[in-house]
This record gives sequence, structure tokens and C-alpha cells, in this order.
Amino acid sequence: MKGVILAGGTGSRLGPVTQATSKQLLQVYDKPMIYYPFSVLQLAGIHDILLITTPADRPAYERLFGDGSALGMTISYAEQDRPRGIADAFRLGAAHIGDEPVALILGDNIFHGPRFPTILADAIKNLDGCTLFGYPVADPERYGVGEADETGRLVSLEEKPARPRSNRAITGLYLYDSEVVSIAARQRPSARGELEITDVNRAYLDRGRATLVDLGRGYAWLDTGTPDAMAEAAKYVQIIENRQGVRIACIEEIALRMGFIDAAACHRLGAAMSGSDYGRYVMQIAEAAGAPALA
Ligand code: DAU
Repeated sequence: MKGVILAGGTGSRLGPVTQATSKQLLQVYDKPMIYYPFSVLQLAGIHDILLITTPADRPAYERLFGDGSALGMTISYAEQDRPRGIADAFRLGAAHIGDEPVALILGDNIFHGPRFPTILADAIKNLDGCTLFGYPVADPERYGVGEADETGRLVSLEEKPARPRSNRAITGLYLYDSEVVSIAARQRPSARGELEITDVNRAYLDRGRATLVDLGRGYAWLDTGTPDAMAEAAKYVQIIENRQGVRIACIEEIALRMGFIDAAACHRLGAAMSGSDYGRYVMQIAEAAGAPALA
């Protein structure tokens, strides 16, 4: 399965900082926001990722991730010159996706919860058409909203409805078979000039090939859209990390645990950041996995 991360847009609700930097590079407690969705793709076992960003921000992402080889991955880049819609990712990503299934994740979506790798593995194994992930929220009118029947088949889908039919927000993680590329290619822009992801999902719904997997109340799906939401997300990560002594979305640790890299390679990544607690944590993880400590 291929991976695509969409990290363009203007981040206008987080201005002024987003006038100078990409929203998805902003710090959420101890790491850039994009590490969180990036780690979701890693946990799904995906190591070939296309990162879509703006022409202005691309160099910063290249500095952060390079070609991905240090993480045992392949990372390539595409540019979206203006927000042309989430489904534009399938036009920009057509060559990358080829005839494989694909996971698309929005670069500002933070997920955390028990057995997430198992949920992802099951969803990938059972993928038939498209799979969306639903999360109960208090304000569904701000999101895509879906309803499923008792078997998990998606039966209704609306984008930011004034009167939501359920409290199930559709999160920014989407799994598709390779047909998504041709579905998106046939799509017309909406009234606001964007290729809407909800229209792509509706095409699958109309064929009876859309599944909704519920992330229950034990999960966290955090918002990063406003300064308050950013501060709350940072607080959440800080509380869990400090209480448990583990790091959420530590992409070097996950690369090691997923077998993308060995302990020595992980240790090198940590040593390059040894001035920070984050870097020292990566070194400790690598040492616990057998890498020799630095003299
Ligand atoms: O976060 C989940 C929600 O994401 C879903 O529930 C909605 O169905 C879906 O439409 C989307 O809603 P948003 O209002 O959050 O979409 P927004 O336009 O803010 O875009 C989400 C992220 O994707 C944002 O960080 C910027 C990025 N983006 C968006 C567009 C439209 C791009 O990189 N390029 C784009 O063209």
C-alpha cells in the first residue's frame, strides 16, 4: 500500500505564524505536527510516502525528512500551488499510487489510542473500495459526517451539514483501492473551486463499497485548527508522555519497531538530536534494542 500525506493549505486560522511557516510543521509539544500523521502511515506498515506541500514550504519538508532513507523509507514530494481540494491529492499522486491501494492522511490530523496498529491492519486487510474512520464529536457540523449500518457499511455521508444525521465525524485518514485515481480524475471542482474528498467518498458510497470504522471513545482524534486547539493537543501529548515515559508519534522509534531500520541506524538518528530530550529518548530506545551507547 502506498501513502500520501497532504500538507498544503494556508493555515489561515493559525496566522500570523503560518504566514512564515507551514501549519503542519508547527510544534505540537515536542515534535512537528506532521510527525503524528506520518507515524500513522508507518504503523500501517507503509514505507513509500508522497508528501504534498506548497512550493514555498517544500524545502523545509525536504530538510526534515530528506528522501526517507534514514528511516528505511522512501519519501517523495509533490507541490500543490494553491488549495485545490483534498481529492487533488489523487491527481498529484496518480503516478505514485499506480495500481496499488493507498492511504491518504491529512498532515494536521493527530490520532492516538489503544491497538491502533491492529485496527489499521484489519482495515487494510478487509479493504473493499474505501474505508473511512469515524469519531464521535460534540460538533459534527464542522466535519464530514457519516452513518453506517450494523455491518459497518457507510449509508450516508455529508460535508459540514447544518443538521448532522449523526455525531460521527469523518476523520482525515482514508483508505482506497487504486480506483480512487480514476474516480478523482473524473471529478469536477465544487462551487468553491476544490476537488472535494466527500465527493470521492460518495462515489464509493453510491457503489456500496464504502466502510466506516468507528474509533471509539477510548481514542483521541485531536483538532489543530486554532491556537486553543493547538495548545490543548500539546497538553494532551505532554500529559501522556510525561506520565508514561514514552513518546507518541516518535517516527524514529516506530521505524525501529516496524523493522524499517535497525538499532544502530535508530541510534544515529537520536545522536543527531542529542541536544534535545526527544533525541536522547531515541538514543535510549535504540540502546535498549541493542545499539551500543556512545562513549
Ligand atoms: O480533518 C477532517 C476533515 O477534513 C473532514 O471531516 C472533512 O470531511 C474534510 O473535508 C476536511 O475538512 P477541513 O475543513 O478540515 O478541510 P480543510 O480544507 O481545512 O483541509 C484539511 C487539511 O488539508 C488542512 O490542513 C490543509 C490541507 N489541505 C486542504 C486543502 C483543501 C491541503 O493541503 N490542500 C487543499 O487543497
